Amino acid sequence: MDHLYTQLAADMAERIEQGLLRPGDRLPGVRELARQRGLSVATAVAAYRALETGGQIESRPRSGFYVRARARAVIVEPEQSNPLPKPTPVSGQDMVLRLAQAANDPTIVQLGAAVPDPAFLPTRAIERALASAAHHHRVRSSAYEFPPGLPALRHQIARRMAAAGARVHPDEIIITNGCQEALTLALQSVTRPGDIVALESPTFYGLLQVVDALGLKALEIPTHPRTGLSLEALQLALEQWPVKACVAVTNFSNPLGHCMSDEQKQALVELTARYNVPLIEDDIYGDLGHRHQRPSVAKAFDTGGNVLYCSSVSKTLSPGLRIGWIAPGRFREQVLYRKYVTNLATSTVTQLAVADLLESGRYDRHLRVMQGIRPRGATHDGGGEPAFPARHPHYATGGRFCHLGGAAAGHRQLRTQRPGAAGGGQHRAGSDLFRHRQIPEFPAPVLRLPVERADRNRAGETGATGGVSLSRFDPNAILRTRSDRAATDDCVRPEIGASFASAQTEGPHN
Ligand SMILES: Cc1ncc(COP(=O)(O)O)c(C=O)c1O
Repeated sequence: MDHLYTQLAADMAERIEQGLLRPGDRLPGVRELARQRGLSVATAVAAYRALETGGQIESRPRSGFYVRARARAVIVEPEQSNPLPKPTPVSGQDMVLRLAQAANDPTIVQLGAAVPDPAFLPTRAIERALASAAHHHRVRSSAYEFPPGLPALRHQIARRMAAAGARVHPDEIIITNGCQEALTLALQSVTRPGDIVALESPTFYGLLQVVDALGLKALEIPTHPRTGLSLEALQLALEQWPVKACVAVTNFSNPLGHCMSDEQKQALVELTARYNVPLIEDDIYGDLGHRHQRPSVAKAFDTGGNVLYCSSVSKTLSPGLRIGWIAPGRFREQVLYRKYVTNLATSTVTQLAVADLLESGRYDRHLRVMQGIRPRGATHDGGGEPAFPARHPHYATGGRFCHLGGAAAGHRQLRTQRPGAAGGGQHRAGSDLFRHRQIPEFPAPVLRLPVERADRNRAGETGATGGVSLSRFDPNAILRTRSDRAATDDCVRPEIGASFASAQTEGPHN
């Protein structure tokens, strides 16, 4: 249970956050406050101390307590990564399965895995679409829908890709079991074991696992949180190494959140085509910008069929549907065959349901709602108020990520704790998941949170799914070990599922 002074401090902090108490406002004296609230003077003093420590108020000698001027949030961005320019096998990805398993535990607050909170997904519409598909297509839905997949769904996807600038015929699209399968098929189709693949650094850990499983070598390319993959570094790598594929998350990358500009996308497509290196584009977050105009895709600049475009509805409609797709360009036949031999087909009834959701406009309506739940303080892709209190510097991008920096993210304890390890139980979805090995440099770490968890109005409402009320949110609490927890019991307690996604590497000293 909260102490009275904590409740009082939280209430006043809320009023300051809401602007009811403004910077420079003089606060009632401790006796007056105690009288107003029916509390003891000691409680009022303790509450003011807590607010002072939190930086929301200041005491002026012989004058009293005042609301502090709101410190401008210092946006911390990680620097461009500086990986070793050498291809190496991927290792150390054993944590990922445990992270994935924790994602299904409703008692765990998910603060790192890029899994949308079910409270923000159109579960009713999905339920109706699935029921309607099973009802209206009783015979068809019980049959295989062999690759390339349901024509109606491919038609809808082609229509959407056109809106992102890519002219792709529905026959060029192959339906997959999520984006992960699309990425796997793409890599399988253009590489052989032992080949070198150029990747963003850091990159999505699922991709690193595919690289590992296929026996490929990863060549990390320096990547900047704002501009993405360094094209200069990629060119040098292509000159130096026999790279067989390049993979990029072009819009709102995971974990950094960057969105490449049209010019960069075009240059990336031209560069990879010049070296005859297939470009695998992962656009899973492309529909999740905060602006109305959807960002373009690299595939839009592909004239020779060199881009294998991959995406899914996992981040927008639901990851449980397992509907993704690939537009593999000139590699269509290889991908089609591999899709067939891997698992024959993707579920027919879900393909029918997703086609219906896209065609009926319910998908777009849902996206508009998602756009409304934007993180305040989006610095790369919008404006507004900070999503977090100013004392927690952060930046936000599209793709439903919010990146939190500063002391909170710099806390090391979480990173040294593994699930099941003696004395601990925290998740360590740390930076090493996004890199395939550890190297000595240690730039500013950043914690990547799903936006739902960062939204001040909504987060507290998600109840069983683990919503986080930001008025009581203490990012430092995320990073405390179990033994510290007693002191932070009134804070968010994601001690197991605080899947933590730092954008940069950890040093061996951790
Ligand atoms: C960049 C990226 N690509 C692919 C995936 C996997 O997508 P799916 O669930 O559709 O297989 C994820 C999931 O987190 C992701 O972040």
